[in-house]
Amino acid sequence: MKQILIINGPNLNLLGKREPTIYGNRSFEEYLETLKPLFPDLQLRYFQSNHEGALLDKIHEVGFNIDGIVINAGAYTHTSVALADALSAVTAPAVEVHISNVHSREAFRHHSYLTPKCKGVIAGLGLQGYELAIRYLMAL
Ligand code: DQA
Repeated sequence: MKQILIINGPNLNLLGKREPTIYGNRSFEEYLETLKPLFPDLQLRYFQSNHEGALLDKIHEVGFNIDGIVINAGAYTHTSVALADALSAVTAPAVEVHISNVHSREAFRHHSYLTPKCKGVIAGLGLQGYELAIRYLMAL
């Protein structure tokens, strides 16, 4: 059975409460329950942390053993060389997801340290971006 890990970074634990006009009004846990049945042949894992080091540790822990990583690093997307290096280090292919269309927002959100280390990026399609990223990784 394939294994894919979804990693959410800082402030994404507040989905559903946080700026709902931008990020919607569903919690990620609620969305995850609708996502799992779409992939009965997949072991779907989920990790969220507000701490950069914890995100790094999780990538190191699973990144040589699983089939793919879907990563929304939140604001660390725009700041973290360390997360980019971690994605380079491991063997699992990664897809970067953003719920909002970062390119229609502030200029500081237009640059991602992670994009060069990922197979591709999905931005602005809401939570559906996670499902599309999984479909891509499943087909690899
Ligand atoms: C985000 C976009 C980032 O710029 C922001 O810092 C987030 C969420 C998104 O999913 O749209 O926390 O990654």
